[in-house]
Amino acid sequence: MSNNDKRFNPEKRHNLLSEERQARWNPPQFLQQFAIQPAQTALDLGCGPGFWTLPLADIVGSAGTVWALDVSQEMLDTLVEQQPPVHVIPVKSELPEIDLATAVADFIWAAFVYHEVEGNLAAEMWRVARPGGQAAILEWRPDAETQSGPPGDHRVWPDQVKLALAQAGFTQVIEAWRDADAYVITARKGENHVK
Ligand SMILES: C[S@@+](CC[C@H](N)C(=O)[O-])C[C@H]1O[C@@H](n2cnc3c(N)ncnc32)[C@H](O)[C@@H]1O
Repeated sequence: MSNNDKRFNPEKRHNLLSEERQARWNPPQFLQQFAIQPAQTALDLGCGPGFWTLPLADIVGSAGTVWALDVSQEMLDTLVEQQPPVHVIPVKSELPEIDLATAVADFIWAAFVYHEVEGNLAAEMWRVARPGGQAAILEWRPDAETQSGPPGDHRVWPDQVKLALAQAGFTQVIEAWRDADAYVITARKGENHVK
């Protein structure tokens, strides 16, 4: 199966902004656990129509920046239709390559996209993270209890994500959150990396 076959269908992009999904995840509250600070630079990889992008923009504020990357122009157009503030910068970009300079990001968010990407996304996340920067990957559990989300054989185990992040050079790689259906792996780039 090619990873293009795993991509979320852009025709269903409005489902990603549904009230049901807002209630399920409550992004402003969910993102609090990462201690993102005002004026920081955040990346939203595979941002879709902006479900997490807009709350991230609220957290970093107008002194910060949110780079919102997606391969789908339709997703990015739907993000722009919501009139995000000017410190949100949509970028059409095909992961795993991240079309940004090295060491720019304080916080790198990848929600439900890791399993759709072929290649070494973790290495690119490490490259664009600032020393001390944090990466966070939200994914569906292969052993989830409910039927929502992608088919089981598209999903990745927490240990696979942890190993990829550690091999990319991240430290403090932990499962920071989980429920019956999904999990978050977080990791840090060491302060001593000056790349
Ligand atoms: C399941 S959606 C999640 C969107 C958003 N993160 C959210 O949680 O609402 C996955 C997103 O990743 C994007 N995507 C998939 N493969 C990609 C790739 N190789 N490069 C960039 N974006 C990709 C899709 O276009 C889609 O918008």
